[in-house]
Amino acid sequence: RTVYLNGEYMPEGEAKVSIFDRGFLMADGVYEVTSVLDGKLIDFEGHAVRLERSLKELDMASPISMDDLLEVHRELVRLNDINEGMIYLQITRGAPDDRDFVFPDPAKVPSTIVLFTQNKPGLADNPVVKKGIKVISIPDERWGRRDIKTVQLLYPSMGKMMAKAAGADDAWLVEDGKVTEGTSNNAYIVKGGKIITRELSNDILHGITRKAVLRFAKEAQMVVEERSFSIEEAQGADEAFITSASTFVMPVVEIDGAKLGDGTPGPVAARLREIYLEESR
Ligand code: PDD
Repeated sequence: RTVYLNGEYMPEGEAKVSIFDRGFLMADGVYEVTSVLDGKLIDFEGHAVRLERSLKELDMASPISMDDLLEVHRELVRLNDINEGMIYLQITRGAPDDRDFVFPDPAKVPSTIVLFTQNKPGLADNPVVKKGIKVISIPDERWGRRDIKTVQLLYPSMGKMMAKAAGADDAWLVEDGKVTEGTSNNAYIVKGGKIITRELSNDILHGITRKAVLRFAKEAQMVVEERSFSIEEAQGADEAFITSASTFVMPVVEIDGAKLGDGTPGPVAARLREIYLEESR
């Protein structure tokens, strides 16, 4: 792969970052994942706007203009000949001379920016969509600013491992009796034709796919209710699904061992996936 590090394109094996980088020592960094379909970026603008917000919330300077960032995304797609896949972008607060909790002076320590592509042929035609995924519920033990897309992904990784150990595919995180979101996706249920998903706050990531899917749903005259729901309510729902840049719309067919309906993917999730793929590519 050809990757991008601090202004230069290079083979992945040559891309090296300091051991003092605050991303490495303190998870002091933000990221974005943008999908690529037919060699084209999906909703770059949405990801760029969220990235700027994440940086601002953490008082981190942007090392690149959004126009240049778009250029880097496109160039990596071209250099790596990506038809379907993802582009990963990470910006950290850079590498000071030593480990220190205090933020370094941005005039002295430039941030570190890394981008690489992930080639995923068949991303849109993912066969898992036909059978759906199983989720388990686990307590949401992440920090309180989940609206910022930081690289603190240890708990979400642990959640995926817990799901795997339980014979499931992913985990839904629960706080105060209500589902916040999935480990790396937003969570939805469908009841009586109504699409229900948690309202935006600092408790969840403001998904770019979520925003597009809800807009398309409303345009298709579907009813959307933004509110939180419990695992019990979800288990009694007609269907459920998740959204993210890497899964688009993915049906959920089982929650904590309880099958939803007949245990097969539902029509609303299928329709939304179809509309999303049609409208955004
Ligand atoms: N995850 N919630 C969380 C906690 C996420 O990590 C993500 C994205 C989402 C969905 O956001 P979007 O629709 O903008 O991708 C919701 C990415 C894909 C990842 O970590 O790989």
